[in-house]
Amino acid sequence: MKILFVCLGNICRSPTAEVVLRTIAAREAPELDLEVDSAGTAAYHVGEPPDPRTREAGARRGYDLAAPRARIVEPADFERFDLILAMDREIHRVLQRRAPRAAHPRLRLFLEFAAEAGLEDVPDPYYGGPNGFEEVLDLVEAATRGLLEHLRERCRAA
Ligand code: 4NP
Repeated sequence: MKILFVCLGNICRSPTAEVVLRTIAAREAPELDLEVDSAGTAAYHVGEPPDPRTREAGARRGYDLAAPRARIVEPADFERFDLILAMDREIHRVLQRRAPRAAHPRLRLFLEFAAEAGLEDVPDPYYGGPNGFEEVLDLVEAATRGLLEHLRERCRAA
């Protein structure tokens, strides 16, 4: 299974989700053999590592966010990934406009997998305070658990 997370700049929310899913899946669900990546819809930060505030907040919970480099979503992504998970509804709308119709069933909102959070959007932490980065991690960790459950079920049904 190949999973792509998408946010706006690819330096805060989606690289966090990429690393959290990869880390937890390696520990708890290696049988799923996941390939995980992230990308942004905007080019402002292409080539940059995650925002320092993202890296610091992740490190406090044991996630190493040094490796990812921001890139933009490209047409081949819509063919390559089994699930393309948008970090908020605006990103989901942008992806629907850019993706061919055949890929639309694979475009989902990440927080669908964290129903208990009662939110649809992972709030963009870029212009907010430090608490925003903690909230991103809380939501990403919750949705990662739900996503892994969903993937295990898919695997069993296949
Ligand atoms: P992200 O956060 O979409 O979670 O990576 C943002 C990063 C950069 C900007 C906006 C949001 N920006 O406007 O540069």
